Amino acid sequence: MLDDRVRAVLERLEREDATERERGLPPEQRARQVEPTTGRFLFSLVAPQTDCEVLELGGSRGYSSVWLAAGVRNLGGRVLSLERDPAKVEAWQRNVEDAGLSDWAELRAGDAFEQLPQIDDVFDVVFLDAEKDDYEELFRLAREKVEPGALVVADNVLSHPDPLASYSAARQADPTLLSITVPLDRGLELTVVLR
Ligand SMILES: C[S@@+](CC[C@H](N)C(=O)[O-])C[C@H]1O[C@@H](n2cnc3c(N)ncnc32)[C@H](O)[C@@H]1O
Repeated sequence: MLDDRVRAVLERLEREDATERERGLPPEQRARQVEPTTGRFLFSLVAPQTDCEVLELGGSRGYSSVWLAAGVRNLGGRVLSLERDPAKVEAWQRNVEDAGLSDWAELRAGDAFEQLPQIDDVFDVVFLDAEKDDYEELFRLAREKVEPGALVVADNVLSHPDPLASYSAARQADPTLLSITVPLDRGLELTVVLR
């Protein structure tokens, strides 16, 4: 689970993220990764599930992917992460390899809007962490890849109320879903697909 290799990569990425923020680098040059507590939360969602298939939209350099992959390693499963920035793709590969998690996580390089229609798999958990203006459309595409009982987790719904308050409101008003905002870190919308 959280062995020394995984911990070493997570701690290094946390140091790099802090340094990038202190230097004031523009967002596109930073990892923009989730908080460590959100990482633990993601781990705790997937680790108790048997053969948990995870789709991640927005892999960046692999910080959240490492948490998710370490989680699915517990009872089996796999993480498929999509990332379109070539520099992030390269770093993702290196970080997941360094963490010893290559057997549990795979990256597809390219734009999620192009990649998703080509993916035939069915997922138990979707982690949505891409550009905020795209959440509605990405949710619609991801919903075609899940069955009732699946969980969609969207980050930043409290840190970016414009435009994501309407994302949460739409999920919570949809009778085919059960959705709740969890006020952890930047705010997570947890949406269970009912039918
Ligand atoms: C907030 S960061 C993801 C952070 C990552 N989940 C983590 O915690 O380590 C968003 C990432 O999504 C990627 N991205 C945004 N829109 C995308 C799209 N349409 N297809 C693929 N990747 C996308 C960006 O390049 C960026 O690396």
